[in-house]
Amino acid sequence: MSELEQLDELISCRTEEGRKSVEPCSIVIFGASGDLTARKLVPALYHLFGAKQLPAPFRIIGFARREKSDVEWRREMQTALNQFSRTKPVDEQRWEAFAANLYYCQGDFSETGAYKKLEQLLNSFGNESLRRNLLFYLATSPSQFAQVAEQLHDASLLHRQEPSGSWQRLVVEKPFGHDLESAEQLNGDLTRFAHEKQVFRIDHYLGKETVQNILMFRFSNSIFEQLWNRQSIDHVQITVSEKLGVGQRGGYYEEAGAIRDMFQNHLLQVLSLIAMEPPVSLDAEAIRDEKVKVLRSIRPLNSNDVNKQVVRGQYFAGMLDGQLRPGYRQESRVKSDSNVETYVALKLFLDNWRWSGVPFFLRTGKCLPLSASEVRVEFRRTPHVLFAAVSNKKLDANALTLRLQPNEGISLRFNGKVPGTSLQLRPVRMNFSYDTEFGAYTPEAYERLLLEAMAGDATLFIRRDEVETAWGIVDSIRKGWEGKSLSNREFYSAGTWGPVAAEDLLGQTGHAWRDPHPIQ
Ligand code: BG6
Repeated sequence: MSELEQLDELISCRTEEGRKSVEPCSIVIFGASGDLTARKLVPALYHLFGAKQLPAPFRIIGFARREKSDVEWRREMQTALNQFSRTKPVDEQRWEAFAANLYYCQGDFSETGAYKKLEQLLNSFGNESLRRNLLFYLATSPSQFAQVAEQLHDASLLHRQEPSGSWQRLVVEKPFGHDLESAEQLNGDLTRFAHEKQVFRIDHYLGKETVQNILMFRFSNSIFEQLWNRQSIDHVQITVSEKLGVGQRGGYYEEAGAIRDMFQNHLLQVLSLIAMEPPVSLDAEAIRDEKVKVLRSIRPLNSNDVNKQVVRGQYFAGMLDGQLRPGYRQESRVKSDSNVETYVALKLFLDNWRWSGVPFFLRTGKCLPLSASEVRVEFRRTPHVLFAAVSNKKLDANALTLRLQPNEGISLRFNGKVPGTSLQLRPVRMNFSYDTEFGAYTPEAYERLLLEAMAGDATLFIRRDEVETAWGIVDSIRKGWEGKSLSNREFYSAGTWGPVAAEDLLGQTGHAWRDPHPIQ
């Protein structure tokens, strides 16, 4: 597709956007035997059904290679739900009512005949909308995305020009490519068979309530928005830490590493929401335009910059929660001399008017002491002159922390006088907790994302130019790493907050990481 045609597609996404109601439809899950279907997709659909948010009628078809009947698939999904549901125990009656809408279609993704079977199954539903409004969820291996789209297109189940009164959409799981070239290729392949407005690229972080709240918080509160710039903000830290190691995903992780697995998508998405300009409206394209601008304003990193501004890390064996965790190189399907990073920390600058000169420190890693995602916005310090006589210790800077998970909430840290006759100051906190304020409402990210895809609202999905720009950034970093093994300062023991080199990254400018606390 030429650049002009691509632009044309983006423009028509804009003119045809707008939130639609969720119409009766069939959801076809490719990769129905996989982990994602069992752990996330079916539980999410079950909860949407329970909350009466699925359209009536609806159908869910699991499409996979293994031979099994509808009844067997339903039973498997029930077992999975009992294990992975966010609410337990699972309501038997509700499950029965939901499961009556589940069907199974056996077939090989590459076989034309399998798509004929799918078509017959859809036709058997009778209801026009169930046959023509189709959400295809590609939960397959990425190498099969293009093939499935092509087969659907050839079977006349997916039309680039949706026949009037019906729609067909592709929901595409990550990883969306492994570098810029492969992402462009995949975009090219998919948009041969589907229009850009029909492609919904998933980043499950965007489905998280707290991540969506970044935008609402920033643009609905005048007190913070006025300070949200280089004049008031000293630096920003984004931390996404995980206790989990790579476990059984060694094979995938050897190809991905933290930079592709977490930074290319989740971290850059959070950064975009924190740093973007106010959109002209809350429409999908207006928001996505501003997010892409942030990614485009990230100062390019040449190999020298990568050396100075990006730190890799890899865990070796260590104690976490009282248990000895194996090192990354001992994990299954990982090479014993692997140089793949399980941790990455970066210092980035955004070359735009608002953020000029403000460092953004981002880090993510596996086998860290705590699973937590948070953004810490640290404000400039006040001049020390006033308190220099009573304390030679500099006052703490004010900081706003957005806790994305767990202990979801926001806290503001400022200095207060310790009661008494001496002039002593110490940091205190004001805290907002979602749980206390709104009760324990914790829908899974996939519930929201599935619903939005059914409604045709692309706000929470990644646009073509967004995914490509993000890969461009990753490529330049990976280029800087080429041929370089990890140094001693880049290894860290499982159960610690990352390699020493990551401390140095901030130490050079007198900064320090603020680690998330278990309870704030
Ligand atoms: C996925 C990564 O995208 O996100 C995993 O592939 C990671 O490696 C997961 O564990 C983290 O998601 P969450 O929602 O648990 O923070």
